[in-house]
Amino acid sequence: MLIFNNKAGLTKVLSDYRNVKTTIGFVPTMGALHAGHLSLLERSVRENGVTVISIFVNPTQFNNPEDLEKYPRTLEADVEKIKTVSDDIIVFAPTVNEMYDGNTISAHFSFDGLENQMEGAFRPGHFDGVGTIVKKLFEIVQPANAYFGEKDFQQLQIVKKLVEKEKLPVHVVGCPITREENGLAMSSRNQRLSTGEKDAAAFIYQTLKEARQRFENESPAEVTAYVYDAFAARPEFTMDYFEIAAEDDLKPATVKENRKYRAFVAVFLSNVRLIDNISLN
Ligand code: PAF
Repeated sequence: MLIFNNKAGLTKVLSDYRNVKTTIGFVPTMGALHAGHLSLLERSVRENGVTVISIFVNPTQFNNPEDLEKYPRTLEADVEKIKTVSDDIIVFAPTVNEMYDGNTISAHFSFDGLENQMEGAFRPGHFDGVGTIVKKLFEIVQPANAYFGEKDFQQLQIVKKLVEKEKLPVHVVGCPITREENGLAMSSRNQRLSTGEKDAAAFIYQTLKEARQRFENESPAEVTAYVYDAFAARPEFTMDYFEIAAEDDLKPATVKENRKYRAFVAVFLSNVRLIDNISLN
């Protein structure tokens, strides 16, 4: 398996692939890989001649220094997991200096307002950090197809907007959320939950499913009130937000129109921040 921690080595190998017209698939990650990441890799391997995965905990997208410090870093275990999908996957695991050349700051982006909703409102600067690193990675890897999970649905929409605005020749592929048996959306942050907390976290998806059921007959405001009450009755959770929003512009829904809607939630369970979402129609 090829593992690079510098751009030069990776770009040389990828230019050889490009010369023989091999399609490059790309899965950007921050490591601490789980079955959700592996499903993205499997899809990329199926749909492309060669697949690259990046493993890089990007400092500029963390608005909370403690979250950055505690983010799991498990490169060796990650590599073993990648091998279970294919030995031919190329791993790019750069240092911060390699990616930022001693200047670890974000560029500033406008994503037509997508960046001001939900995660953007609660995590100032987060999407500037995501935009900065994804653009850098796309420029290095130059993939034909890049795979992102729908758990970070707002991020997926923002990456699509980045590609459109910056005219990057990349097809962004959104992939369904992978869940634990109890419904908890897979996330690298789940590693920081105890077994008891993981059991408790099943409540998040149960509540989203109940919200979807109620959305058939109730208004967005009624469903939202139900969800806030449901979490208020569970003191182990602290809510950042619950929101019903249109999928395209992510603006909060006030009335129901002929559009695609999703429910989005962000909660703390002990001090771990968990997000999830569900399609409503
Ligand atoms: O979703 C993630 O893991 C990160 O936000 C990403 C897309 C790899 C950028 O650092």
